[in-house]
Amino acid sequence: MSSLQPELPHAESAPGTRSDAAAPPPAARILRAEASESGRGTAPAPAPVSATPSASGPVPRVLRRMLCLDDFQPEARRRLPRPIYGYAAGGSETNASLRGNRTAFDDYVFVPRVMVDVSRRDLRRSLFGREYAVPFGFAPMGGTSLGGFDGDRVLARVAAESDLPMILSGASFTRLEDVRAVGPTAWFQGYISGDEDEIRALVDRVGHAGYDTLVVTADVPVAANRENNVRNGYSQPLRPSLSLAWQGITHPRWLIGTALRTLLASGMPHTENMGRTRVPLVSSTGMRDRGRRDRFDWGHLALLRSIWPGKLVVKGILNGQDARLAREHGVDGVIVSNHGGRQLDGAAAPLHALPDVVAQAGGMTVMMDSGIRRGTDVLKAIALGAHFVFVGRPFLFANAVAGEAGVRHAVRLLRDEVDRDLALLGAPSIDQVGPSLLRARTPGVPMPA
Ligand SMILES: Cc1cc2nc3c(=O)[nH]c(=O)nc-3n(C[C@H](O)[C@H](O)[C@H](O)COP(=O)(O)O)c2cc1C
Repeated sequence: MSSLQPELPHAESAPGTRSDAAAPPPAARILRAEASESGRGTAPAPAPVSATPSASGPVPRVLRRMLCLDDFQPEARRRLPRPIYGYAAGGSETNASLRGNRTAFDDYVFVPRVMVDVSRRDLRRSLFGREYAVPFGFAPMGGTSLGGFDGDRVLARVAAESDLPMILSGASFTRLEDVRAVGPTAWFQGYISGDEDEIRALVDRVGHAGYDTLVVTADVPVAANRENNVRNGYSQPLRPSLSLAWQGITHPRWLIGTALRTLLASGMPHTENMGRTRVPLVSSTGMRDRGRRDRFDWGHLALLRSIWPGKLVVKGILNGQDARLAREHGVDGVIVSNHGGRQLDGAAAPLHALPDVVAQAGGMTVMMDSGIRRGTDVLKAIALGAHFVFVGRPFLFANAVAGEAGVRHAVRLLRDEVDRDLALLGAPSIDQVGPSLLRARTPGVPMPA
């Protein structure tokens, strides 16, 4: 199974190596070709992702150094203005949950099986009646298009090509209609206020745009205490200042490639999918309309369920009792998440919360995000009962580093890791990954019953 090779981002293309017409086939087609060749045929060990030139020319120089998802973050840090990098990378208050999301993975170790025929590996996963090529997708992130030009649509396009779901954030700067138009695998995530008229209007709009899955984020009744934003000069909206201008000037690649390009293409970005008013990205007086989110409760969810005909997912669950309530309200799935450590500091790591949530979910689909960076993380979450996982920051950073080619490269890295780890685990398919392949390394950490 050969690795998919990244395309050249325009800024770093070798001269004359690529035009759109010469672009390599979409990743989904390659993945399918690989699957017929290897996933359900023979599967030689994956080649190192960054070693071989792509069909359309050499691998972009910067991507050759991106060997795993974590490699994108320091590179993005160099390229992004401090307020924007800090907003994306940071957690809340002491960053205890942000750190805990990563350390939780060390609490579990694999006990692989050997001498299993793993030559026909299958990464596909069915979710809500549809099959995806891999068991991971893109988590919703407001500010994706601040990280790199047209970020929301970039992620939506790569997701569709790669045959994985992308969740568009309700806090995004791109109209939800425009994202769905280029991203047939996009779901929409709403920040729902406790206002009936607003709920009905949003459901109407999301349905008309063609979305089949609506994700309600439940862990943001109020804005989190993100001191790092204050320290780094980030606010919503951004306030014009000399230091903001200096951050732009000292990051020319971002200033020209993202900020000026966005202004030229579509003018000042505004929040497009949240609240009653569009708020500009930069304003000395504007205020984000957060609606009456702190009133949103299970009654509003019941209303939502009664008027939304598609799949309904609640994101931000950590307590098994809430999973049970969600199922009783007719919800189709939950995403176990602490918002990437960005909301309640000290909230449990979703990986630790999985066994309890799965036990109380009564067969409802349980997904998970927060802290996933490696193929082994994906498989640990699945072994603990997650049916599917989502990954956030690394894809925003990949877009900041190399645009669409960067995001494709990141998908490929994670996909190849999952593929390799499946073989090493002695599991021919994702469906065969379960708790018997995992042990608690740290005494007392939650395990499935
Ligand atoms: C920059 C950024 C913006 C985010 N915006 C949203 C959002 O608008 N809605 C939402 O439900 N979650 C949002 N999240 C949380 C992610 O959906 C996800 O839960 C989290 O990033 C997963 O953790 P990871 O980044 O460690 O993979 C955001 C996360 C980041 C990093």
